[in-house]
Amino acid sequence: MPVVAKVGDVPNMGKIQVTVDGQDLLLINLKGSMYAVEAECPHQGAPLAAALIKETYLSCPRHGYRFELKDGSCKDHPECVLKTWPVRIENGEIIVDLA
Ligand code: FES
Repeated sequence: MPVVAKVGDVPNMGKIQVTVDGQDLLLINLKGSMYAVEAECPHQGAPLAAALIKETYLSCPRHGYRFELKDGSCKDHPECVLKTWPVRIENGEIIVDLA
């Protein structure tokens, strides 16, 4: 599984975009918990690099759909699910399981 960034690269309550094996993804640090999600909104493809991080979710800047970071679900629009990947931290490095 690839190392995609260092923990210190992602500020608390912040995110960075990385490309791994041709896949654009966002790494999000929610108060010390790290999440990896796709960088494009499943609704109409807005880039989520500008999305707001709130309590437990990411809010798309285009229409405001809210995606839970833990599983990508959207309560208001269950047909839209944001892809997420399992994340592991080892020796300060972020490892994402893209399988
Ligand atoms: S494009 Fe993200 S909510 Fe519509």
